Amino acid sequence: MSYQLIRSLLFKFDAEFSHDLTLKALSLSNKIGLLSLLKAPNTSKLRTVMGISFQNPVGLAAGLDKNASHIDALGKLGFGFIEIGTITPRPQLGNPRPRLFRLPKAQGIINRFGFNNVGVDAAVENIILSKYKGVLGINIGKNFDTPIEKAVDDYLLCMKKVYQYSNYIAINISSPNTKNLRDLQEKKALSGLLARLKEEQTKLADYYGRYVPIALKISPDLTDKHLDAISKIMIKSKIDGIIATNTTISRDSVSDLFHGREIGGMSGKPLFKLSNSIIRELHLRFQGEIPIIGVGGIFSGEDALEKIEAGAELVQIYSGLIYQGRKLILDACSSIG
Ligand SMILES: Cc1cc2nc3c(=O)[nH]c(=O)nc-3n(C[C@H](O)[C@H](O)[C@H](O)COP(=O)(O)O)c2cc1C
Repeated sequence: MSYQLIRSLLFKFDAEFSHDLTLKALSLSNKIGLLSLLKAPNTSKLRTVMGISFQNPVGLAAGLDKNASHIDALGKLGFGFIEIGTITPRPQLGNPRPRLFRLPKAQGIINRFGFNNVGVDAAVENIILSKYKGVLGINIGKNFDTPIEKAVDDYLLCMKKVYQYSNYIAINISSPNTKNLRDLQEKKALSGLLARLKEEQTKLADYYGRYVPIALKISPDLTDKHLDAISKIMIKSKIDGIIATNTTISRDSVSDLFHGREIGGMSGKPLFKLSNSIIRELHLRFQGEIPIIGVGGIFSGEDALEKIEAGAELVQIYSGLIYQGRKLILDACSSIG
């Protein structure tokens, strides 16, 4: 069955219901061996980013598999890497439903999930039980009820618990759905957070005899002044990578559409240009010193290539996968080469 047909069926149901159903169906297909029949993407060259070797540069962005419950199935789709999470120290339910909205006219998505997840211990259990052997990023955050002044403790706790199971750790300080979280992108808070994370990373690398890189995930709604400060702090703190970008709170071009004014973070096509401009600005500041993972609004192979041309070394997709299906992974791999 073509993905367009599957999509038109799925889009008839509530967005979160369809999302859960699709993931369950995917895992079931994997259990009965169907996903092993899929053709692997054209992977012309291996690349090393943040000291990690990637089979291909196209990854799954955080948020689709928040609890690491579907990594075996997702791993079969042909991604060069998978990022799970965001996970928090304690389990939490997230915001009340409905909290996921499609904007088909704009090919966008608005979500206000609010880090619904099973908590770090259960997520680690899922990872231990999985057979996935590819590159795994683990995206961590803070619980909604942890005061922002104590956020560092949540990141440190998660970092300690996931360190030995990750190829890289993504620090999410950019979700618009956890109150005040994005304040951690401000100069003083960020310097403090990154210094503590770096200190812990050094200790953990000594303890486990393995260096696991840290990548900071940022918002697309930052000013040039913010980007100046963030890039300087990241270079000073020797952070290994940056993921640009998370979802936007802006509603330019969609506010007149059905669901266009829902509160939350918007992803998909309407985010493409904005996230590319952030990648370009980061590239100017880093000049290759800190690798950029580009994410936001990739819907075609050309879009993926445009992110690379803007300065990204790897890309991630989420909304494009919902709208276009698995073919997007193959197209992105062939276009980037
Ligand atoms: C439903 C949904 C849930 C998301 N949850 C998370 C999350 O838990 N953590 C995170 O860092 N990003 C999360 N994101 C953001 C994506 O990882 C990505 O940065 C963003 O959607 C832009 O990429 P896209 O346009 O390809 O979707 C989520 C996105 C969507 C659509």
